[in-house]
Amino acid sequence: MQLETLLANITQHANLVDAYGATHLPIYNTATFDHKRQFPNHKNYDYSRTDNPTRNALEDIFTIAENGAGGVCTNTGVGALALLFDTVLKSGDTVLVERDCYGGTYRMLNILLEKQNIKTCYADFTDAIEVENVLKNNAITLVLCESPTNPSLKIVDLKAVAELSKKYNALFAVDNSMATFASQKPLDLGADFSLFSATKFISGHGSVVAGAIIAKTDYWAERLCYFSNANGRAQSPFDVFLVSLGLPTLVYRMKTQEQSAIQLSEFLLSLSEVVEVKFPGLPSHPQYELAKRQMKIIPSVLTITLKSAEKSEQLIRNTKLFGEKVSFGTSDSRLEIPSKMSHATYSEEDLKKIGLTHATVRIAVGLENVDDLIADIQQALKIETSKCV
Ligand SMILES: Cc1ncc(COP(=O)(O)O)c(C=O)c1O
Repeated sequence: MQLETLLANITQHANLVDAYGATHLPIYNTATFDHKRQFPNHKNYDYSRTDNPTRNALEDIFTIAENGAGGVCTNTGVGALALLFDTVLKSGDTVLVERDCYGGTYRMLNILLEKQNIKTCYADFTDAIEVENVLKNNAITLVLCESPTNPSLKIVDLKAVAELSKKYNALFAVDNSMATFASQKPLDLGADFSLFSATKFISGHGSVVAGAIIAKTDYWAERLCYFSNANGRAQSPFDVFLVSLGLPTLVYRMKTQEQSAIQLSEFLLSLSEVVEVKFPGLPSHPQYELAKRQMKIIPSVLTITLKSAEKSEQLIRNTKLFGEKVSFGTSDSRLEIPSKMSHATYSEEDLKKIGLTHATVRIAVGLENVDDLIADIQQALKIETSKCV
């Protein structure tokens, strides 16, 4: 079955028992379940922290979509990362992470995990030799990366990293928040876990914070459920419902946003105020071929560097359609300076290593008409229309 069909009517495809034939996901907002009043010969429910029919239905859909064995819908994307760490790591372990990662991941690794005596090594995952050297010289338990990376938009060859991880007996997890399962399926490429923030493209409307993690094997799927119950990471039924509202349109939204991002990136490239445009959908991107091979849809996030920090401030201040907001993948377009917002927890030294300055702006392209977005940037930078290609 194609993904669009699966997502068009999720109650049909989830393992959900509903006596009334509900055509949208029913919200079972209850803490407990009465053992005496449940259907015979069906899964029995007990307590919603452990299991809940609304949440289980979405977990079924995400498991099918990611080609996994099972998983957990978590309260946030960070909750999915935390559940991964809780499940697979113990004191004394070492994690290998792509240097360009979400600021919240960096904070968790450097502050929370360090307190538990868990060490982090960083590497550039586009350099297989660097990755293998770290794996060879350290006992790595877990390898973790995003692709595209955030905010540098590098593309990691997930199959190659999965093979290296296996060679050195490390587990491999992919943060699939940006590409989503509509674009790439990390478990098919050899990863052990695919996790994501559903706050972004998956829910799509900025109405909820949410996450999920799906494991490739029954063993790890069961362990995730065990730790989620133990640590209380699971998502509330109402928030699951909000996420489910975005699913039928996911593929269509992402395809439309991709086309707008291509057009916007080409426009930005033509501006003398912009010194660099990073977008994996541009043939000039260093991993363009890999991006096209690995992803069905290029996610609509661009990172640009302007001539100066003052110019990026001018862009942020004067645009009317782009909110100054973190996050991406929603219906509304957004701008942010990562060094001041989403990646503010990075040290100056680590910001330098990933090439971030205050002149770098991340643009998340939404569902507005792209001509309006282009006109908005033109007026913000006070560019005469005749100067644009
Ligand atoms: C790549 C990535 N992973 C994880 C997260 C965390 O997700 P949430 O904000 O839903 O906790 C984010 C949030 O921006 C993100 O960009």
